[in-house]
Amino acid sequence: MRHKALAVSALAKSFNGRRVLQDVSFDVKAGELVAFLGANGSGKSTTLKCVAGLAVPDAGRIELDDSVLTELTGRQLQLARSKAAMVFQKIHLVPRRTALDNVCAGALARVSGLGSLSPFFFSRELREEAMGCLERVGMADRALERVGRLSGGQQQRVAVARALCQRASVLLADEPVSALDPNAAEQVMELLAELAHEENLAVAAVLHQPELAQRHADRAIGLLRGRIVFDGPVAALDQDVFDKLYSSERNAA
Ligand SMILES: Nc1ncnc2c1ncn2[C@@H]1O[C@H](COP(=O)(O)OP(=O)(O)O)[C@@H](O)[C@H]1O
Ligand SMILES: [Mg+2]
Repeated sequence: MRHKALAVSALAKSFNGRRVLQDVSFDVKAGELVAFLGANGSGKSTTLKCVAGLAVPDAGRIELDDSVLTELTGRQLQLARSKAAMVFQKIHLVPRRTALDNVCAGALARVSGLGSLSPFFFSRELREEAMGCLERVGMADRALERVGRLSGGQQQRVAVARALCQRASVLLADEPVSALDPNAAEQVMELLAELAHEENLAVAAVLHQPELAQRHADRAIGLLRGRIVFDGPVAALDQDVFDKLYSSERNAA
């Protein structure tokens, strides 16, 4: 059986007294790409944010690699959490810095004792590792280019390289291709699937288009009003599932 890189159980979250996640339990194994599907407001982003530490769950247990995040605090929590890296729709890179510098910055999440050093002073060793990550995403030839000059698809590749440089074992991607044209979207999805299958990463990706999930993901998890209503191989996604997930509009609870 494959190793569960991420295991979430009984996750619950409310905002201002309104339940947005209820009894959310799932896992993502090393080597698989899992697509999160669901209408706007169904709780997809909040689920990933709870794992990444950008939202604090009210209840539930989150296991990442061999650590139980929900039982850790302080530096231990920070280190354990660095095993998950987030890639967003809106690309969070520094546009005036080179691709290489941006990728090196991924290591900040795991490198201790940087103290007063500028976050843009990086050792040769780290720069070499970052070059390897850029190579992995097919961007080595643009390493010294300012990120702001790259296309959306290229920037998203750099963002993935930064996650690799963080040495994450779980990639959390929230609509990673929503801002890209169809070709670039296809390529970035291919890259994410490759990283899962070849590098044994666990990839959880919120996808706006179910067809992308059907083409690239191994498994899909469907959320409806903060609850999981589908969890199965993408081959099992059919019109009934899509009707359930998307046609009951005004999905908000
Ligand atoms: N920081 C927040 N404060 C209050 N409500 C929020 C916050 N973040 C998300 N929500 C609400 O939680 C619900 C789920 O949001 P979200 O997880 O972003 O959905 P999705 O990503 O599936 O579109 C929505 O109703 C949204 O308005
Ligand atoms: Mg969202």
